[in-house]
Amino acid sequence: MSEPRRVALVTGASGGIGADLARVMARNGHDLALVARSVDKLAALAAEIAATGRPAPLVVAMDLAAPGAADALAKAMSDAGAKVELLVNNAGFGLNGAALTLDRAEQADMIDLNVRALTDLSLRFAPDIAAARGKILNVASVAAFLPGPGMAVYYATKAYVLSFSEALGEELRPSGATVTCLCPGYTATDFQARAGLAGAALDKFPAMTSMAVAEAGYAAMMAGRRRVTTGLSNKIMVALLPLIPRSLVLPIVARLQMKRHV
Ligand SMILES: NC(=O)c1ccc[n+]([C@@H]2O[C@H](COP(=O)([O-])OP(=O)(O)OC[C@H]3O[C@@H](n4cnc5c(N)ncnc54)[C@H](OP(=O)(O)O)[C@@H]3O)[C@@H](O)[C@H]2O)c1
Repeated sequence: MSEPRRVALVTGASGGIGADLARVMARNGHDLALVARSVDKLAALAAEIAATGRPAPLVVAMDLAAPGAADALAKAMSDAGAKVELLVNNAGFGLNGAALTLDRAEQADMIDLNVRALTDLSLRFAPDIAAARGKILNVASVAAFLPGPGMAVYYATKAYVLSFSEALGEELRPSGATVTCLCPGYTATDFQARAGLAGAALDKFPAMTSMAVAEAGYAAMMAGRRRVTTGLSNKIMVALLPLIPRSLVLPIVARLQMKRHV
């Protein structure tokens, strides 16, 4: 029997932070499997990586929010003779607006992708990752550190990602596998348009590039760090937050988020 192809699987690799994580990982010698719904964008990224002399990544077009996605993805990997040793759970989206005015089904879809799919993929691939002393990188957000009126469900999904990642990392510690949680702040990608965030209001906030975020996330994952927040102002905010009463934080976040609504 031939050796399995040992891959790093990146979800949400068709654009933004996920695509740049794939580029950084390819540059560092990882063989990749790229997952998202937009097959054309995944194929273009796979071709871009192959053109640099790296093996052409596996491409799997899949809606990860659909029931059974983790099992279907595991089957796609085994059909391709691949074993997942690194898993990057990056696919996710947000919705800006008051929870009661936003579409209920769309908010449930967000939980399906940001929470359920991320959990199911982590648990589905963790045994192989543990056996290989591999790594998981889960993408949360600075939103994980506080409640977010104006993006209530999104912030709550990211608090879950941070909590779950830290706990799973501790459970996997004896195996030598690590779990890292990446917490970016405002990063210029398609995220803002999908979330219904207004361009003009956003211009007042400093944005990081998706490549800078990807490089920080990759370095933290390879170092086996439990958590990384990107950007100095975000690090300062996260450090100061526990010192500020929630009664002050909540109306400030509400005002900021509502102002950013398209
Ligand atoms: N940008 C920011 O300011 C920011 C800040 C903090 C955290 N984050 C987090 O960073 C992660 C990446 O976001 P981004 O900023 O790079 O946004 P993005 O450019 O919109 O990328 C989102 C990725 O997720 C994929 N995706 C969305 N729904 C999917 C589904 N149902 N099934 C499979 N893939 C799906 C998208 O691909 P398809 O549409 O092709 O499926 C795309 O590849 C997210 O978890 C987000 O919450 C972003």
